[in-house]
Amino acid sequence: MNATLETAVNEIVDQFAIDKEFLVEATKLFHESMTTGLASKAPARDYMPMIPTYVTGIPSGKEKGLYLAADLGGTNFRVCSIHLGGDHTFELKQSKFKIPVDLMQGSTADDLFEFLAEKVKAFLDQNHAEHAAQDKLKLGFTFSFPVNQTALNRGTLIRWTKGFDLPDLVNKDVVELLQKHMTLLGIKVHVAALANDTVGTLLSRAYSNDIKKTNANTVVGAIFGTGTNGAYYETLENIPKLDKEDVPKGAKGMVINTEWGSFDNTLKILPNTKYDQLVDEETANVGYHLFEKRISGMFLGELLRVALMDLFNRGLIFQDLYKARGGSLPHRIFEPWLISAEVLSYLQIDDSTNLKMSELVLENLLRLPTNHEERLVIQRLTQAISHRAAYLSAIPLAAIVSRVKDQYNDDERDFEFGCDGSVVEFYPGFQQKILEAVALIDPLKGSSKKIHLRIAKDGSGVGAALCASVA
Ligand code: BGC
Repeated sequence: MNATLETAVNEIVDQFAIDKEFLVEATKLFHESMTTGLASKAPARDYMPMIPTYVTGIPSGKEKGLYLAADLGGTNFRVCSIHLGGDHTFELKQSKFKIPVDLMQGSTADDLFEFLAEKVKAFLDQNHAEHAAQDKLKLGFTFSFPVNQTALNRGTLIRWTKGFDLPDLVNKDVVELLQKHMTLLGIKVHVAALANDTVGTLLSRAYSNDIKKTNANTVVGAIFGTGTNGAYYETLENIPKLDKEDVPKGAKGMVINTEWGSFDNTLKILPNTKYDQLVDEETANVGYHLFEKRISGMFLGELLRVALMDLFNRGLIFQDLYKARGGSLPHRIFEPWLISAEVLSYLQIDDSTNLKMSELVLENLLRLPTNHEERLVIQRLTQAISHRAAYLSAIPLAAIVSRVKDQYNDDERDFEFGCDGSVVEFYPGFQQKILEAVALIDPLKGSSKKIHLRIAKDGSGVGAALCASVA
């Protein structure tokens, strides 16, 4: 690689490095930010929302019955029916519908919810026609955006994330809206519970986890996909913002949806490269969810794209191509959000001769011819961006372990994280790197308990059904 280019790439890679000292400090700050959020009622930019979910118990695996779940959280809307067997097992039927881009931005909340209700109807007609007309089936609604929840089945949208932007839904009750549109279509389904996908993941992993076999308690439900977030069980005395009269009798604690995507929005500690700033400026929620914008699938490819554009603007890459085309580059490389985390996952581990596989991927996706040197640059940047993402992902997990470990003083079992989402499930090496960074932070110092990471597949749907089952 030519020396100037190599120096420039090394500088970028260095900016994405994360060391142990940083991890430990950031985990402390995360812990403090949790405490502030648990005490503060009004949502604010400088601490995490820490939303009480009104889910007061963790499933035992014995829950039974047929429930529906509807899941809106990213590019797809999923409708499922879940039959809980009462023995840690379940049967799931599901349909997935792509959300048209114009319903994500630039239309109204009613348009979006009418679409969602139609899809629930289509699913019922196809799979449970017998219930559609007579029974009132219970539905758990997984709505994976920050919501100000005031009861198990009530909550108003605080703000959109992950590319959605329909301003008229902000401050409206999302359960009411779904119920209204289903009723308009004559569907006899009752929206019994509202759940974030992380709450669903926590509950579904706890349901599936047969602790006699795993010897581990599920302490976090986490998503590392298009966005990122986590939920855990907190004891009531640690949630000062909760009005006691709203807490169901006999409850000792409550599941908290942390909305950790908003950790350190004021950038006290998070790395803030010029690429992070450029990506933030392109989003609909500038200045918010800055932790998420360094970690989750929606942003990793865009970080790579803006870094490449920077090297190009400095005259360091794509110069032969630029000249050969008479002073231009293929237009796709200028398009924000075009490079997905899935593409990064191919570039990350390409070990073909001269990175031939990357060459094909880049040609296919971006119509971008590259030389071997450019592909080496792309691979190094990809690895730096994803390494930072995985290491940062360990911070909330370790902070939560250190927070809840006292709840388990009389329990010898290990701890496990239930995780879902495309990045943690499919990105090569992501899980191992998270665990490596958790080990560096060492939240269980001095204990012989271990920490495991388990994938909770389809967690949010099953979890929403579990929420509906207790309603
Ligand atoms: C949302 C969370 C959600 C997470 C993962 C974030 O952007 O704010 O509510 O849990 O994405 O889907």
